[in-house]
Parts: sequence; structure tokens; C-alpha cells
Amino acid sequence: MPFGVIYIAIMPTVDDPTEKTLAELGVNDAQGVAEKFAEVRTRFDRQVAFDADEIRSLMLHEAWLGSDSDPVTSLRNFWVGRKAGVLTLITENWLKKSPPSLKGVVGKQFNELKTHIETKLEEQRKRIEEKTEAAALNREQVDLSLPGVIRPIGSHHLIRQVFQEIEDIFFSIGFSIVEGPEIETPYYNFEALNIPEFHPVRDDMDTFYLELPKAAKTPLLLRTHTSPMQIRTMEKQKPPVRVIVPGKVYRRDNPDATHSFIFHQVEGLAVDTDITFCDFTGTIDYFVKQFFGSSVKTRFRPSYFPFTEPSVEFDVSCIFCGGGGAAAGGGTCSKCKGSGWIELFGAGMVDPAVYGFVKYDARKVSGFAFGMGIDRLAMLKYGIDDIQVFFQNDVRFLKQFP
Ligand code: PHE
Repeated sequence: MPFGVIYIAIMPTVDDPTEKTLAELGVNDAQGVAEKFAEVRTRFDRQVAFDADEIRSLMLHEAWLGSDSDPVTSLRNFWVGRKAGVLTLITENWLKKSPPSLKGVVGKQFNELKTHIETKLEEQRKRIEEKTEAAALNREQVDLSLPGVIRPIGSHHLIRQVFQEIEDIFFSIGFSIVEGPEIETPYYNFEALNIPEFHPVRDDMDTFYLELPKAAKTPLLLRTHTSPMQIRTMEKQKPPVRVIVPGKVYRRDNPDATHSFIFHQVEGLAVDTDITFCDFTGTIDYFVKQFFGSSVKTRFRPSYFPFTEPSVEFDVSCIFCGGGGAAAGGGTCSKCKGSGWIELFGAGMVDPAVYGFVKYDARKVSGFAFGMGIDRLAMLKYGIDDIQVFFQNDVRFLKQFP
């Protein structure tokens, strides 16, 4: 339907018959009255058939925006508005001003038209309301038959998983888990561990120092091992102490298949009044068997750490060749180079000098400590030959350890 037609129909036009009296329109009998009312009714019926959008687009199209921004209200006001609605105009111009002989007919026609208009407007209101509701419902509808979005569930990094395994084992034999700062002072990282400033062992643990303002009281460094937590733990609590410390450590190493400037350790410390070397080796042996399986053997060799005395290096029988030193396809096992043993980690009985730093009585207490490289343990257990894969975050690697 062309918009212009309705536009004209809605707009009160100059020659709108309801603005004139019946006499001015030349109506003087019942028939003429009925015809005029029929005309108005037809006009109304055409308009009331439109829905809100049609009326709105019509108004926009014709740049006619009534005082009501809502088109349905505009239409309603045009017909039944109290001040200048068509029904009011008919009352004023036709009904009130009709000759007494026609008053009855005009009155009857007027009442019929009024009822008709009010009923239809109410029907239109309902219709539009329902349509709006249905549209809203339609918009909000969820189609349950559409395929869902698959969100892959992540998993813990292998290092995190190995931490967890180790924590579980030590937790089950009475150790608790503590964590400490990755930024340390030289005192905790070295001095209190019996490593004075010019001790040659510091060369092995060259690390990253933080750039600090000149006024800083002490230099700060990224810890080279988790051992500073031995000191921090003993400073805080009296014996007995049984803790493990999982965490990240840093060293100024050049990256290759077995070196990384960032790696992971689990420190262990047990101090009490009567801890012996047997408790020490027994605990380590228990852990290694839990971690690698009960068929492995352990051994220790003398070693050196400034904060343990005696110090040892723990080995495990080669998990690749079973300790025999021979490769499955003949020749020597490349992992243990035919020795049948693989070096695991450093440990020892706590050096009495360390107790001096934490105000423990070295004559009354004894204990042991160990520090294992988690990356190395994970590589051995899961047959990984390059430490770098732990830090590259390649999903193809990570996915193999769900
Ligand atoms: N902190 C030592 C290292 O990182 C390991 C260690 C810990 C040795 C505890 C003995 C006792 O090499």
C-alpha cells in the first residue's frame, strides 16, 4: 500500500468533514447522516488495521512525527483524543450543531461509531502487544539442537604434577609443605647457609642480582636454590622441623638440553633431637622407591655442600637399563653411560654451623636436608631428553601429560 494514502488519511486535512457542521456539508436527512458516518468509519477501519511498525515507518517516511513518539498512541489520540480527536470533533460539529430533527439519528450513529472505534482500538492494542511479546520470545529462544562449543579442559603442567607427586609422598610421612620468596637476600641464599662472601662455591651458583636504588640496605638476588627456606623455617619454629619446600630457582646458566636459567627444586629439611644418618638414608630410599617404583635401588656417594656435613650425592639404579648398564638393543645404556646408576640429587646431615645462624643448640639437635631438581626427576621418570620443553609451552608436548 502506498504510504502517502495513509499519511493523508491520518493527518487531519483541511477539508476534514468532521471540522464542518452537517449543514455546511449539505447533509439534511438520515440517509446523508448515515453516509457521512460510514465515510468516517471506513477511514478509521483502514488505519486501525496497521500495526505499530507500519504506522511508525509510515510516519518516518512522511517525516511526520506526531507529538507522541509512540505511533499507536498517535493514532489513538487522533481518533479519541479529548481535545481534538475525531470523536470530539463529531460531537462538537455534528452532534451539538445538528438540527433537532436529526439529533436522534446523529446521536445513534455517533454512539455506534464510538463503540466501534473504542472496541477496535482496544483490539489493536492487544494485537500489537501480543506481537511484541511473541517477537521478544522468538529472539530469546535457545536452540538446544545446535552443536555446543567445546571448551578443551586444561591440565596441570607436568612440573606441577611432579611437584604434587613428591608433595604427596612426603606429606604421607609427616612432612609439611612451605613456600618462600624467589627474591632473596645474600644472607639467606648464602651466608646463613655457611657460604661466606668469597667462598668458591658461590661461583657454581652465579645468579641474577636485582638493580636497586643506591640507598638499598642489602642487595637482592633471585634465589639459586630453595635452601634459604631451611634458614627461614628454622628461624620461625623450634625443633622438631619436618618440611619440604617446592619452588622455582634461578641460575646464570646458558640454556641447553640439561640447563635452564630457571628450574624447579624441592628442598627437604628434618631437624629433631635424635635424627641419625639412618633416618636420613631411610627417608630418601623410601621416597625414591615411592617415586620411581619399588624395584629401584639407591646409593649415596660422598659430596660437598657448605651447609651439610657429611654431604652426599644420591643415585638411583638406572631406570632405563634396570641397573645392568646394557642397552636393550645391545651396547651400553646411553642414559647411565653403562654405569648402571643415575645421579639424582644432593643432600646431607645439616652442618652444625648452620644451627648457629638460627639459634638452635647444635649439641642438642641433628637433622638432614636434601635438594632435588624437579625438572631432572621429571625428565628421568617420563623419558624427556630436553629440559627446554618445560618452558616452551608447546601444547603438543603438554597434551601428552593430561
Ligand atoms: N641446595 C643444593 C643445590 O641446589 C642442594 C642441597 C640441598 C644439598 C640441601 C644439600 C642439602 O645444589
